[in-house]
Amino acid sequence: MRMCWRRALYTVVLFTSCSPAWADDTDAGRKQFVTSCGTCHIAEKGGGTRQGPNLYTVYGRPAGTLEGFSYSAALKNGGWVWDEAALDRWITDAQAAHPGTVMNYRQANPAKRLLVIQYLKSLAAQN
Ligand code: HEC
Repeated sequence: MRMCWRRALYTVVLFTSCSPAWADDTDAGRKQFVTSCGTCHIAEKGGGTRQGPNLYTVYGRPAGTLEGFSYSAALKNGGWVWDEAALDRWITDAQAAHPGTVMNYRQANPAKRLLVIQYLKSLAAQN
């Protein structure tokens, strides 16, 4: 019985301490995306729009150009491309980055921003 407890404890400790290393970055990115952006955005092929446009093909896409989405004047044919730097500035504080946008979102945590950006980038690689 004593051995069992020790083994169980060992397993729990091992599992807990190792799980970050096992975690799949893409999965962590997907979860962060759903938590941070999922209320307003879908990022799936053919997934449609919510309050915001579908972000499946957003990485590398010129801003404000997804066919069929009704952008604000601030974003419509914005003239920049969604690369890492543009996305980081945008999700840090969308309304400061492009005044007049109707996306009301800020994320102060750089680690969370990076997870989401890397996830969107990984989707672009599948397009
Ligand atoms: C409260 C709703 C809401 C949340 C939360 C939100 N967005 Fe948005 N997003 C929008 C809306 C609305 C637009 C369209 C903005 C406009 O037309 O001014 C938009 C536009 C965008 C665009 C421009 C896409 C294009 O085709 O040019 C990107 C990129 C984007 N969002 C990324 C994100 C990311 C990444 C997150 C999460 C970290 C996020 N958004 C969270 C509502 C939201």
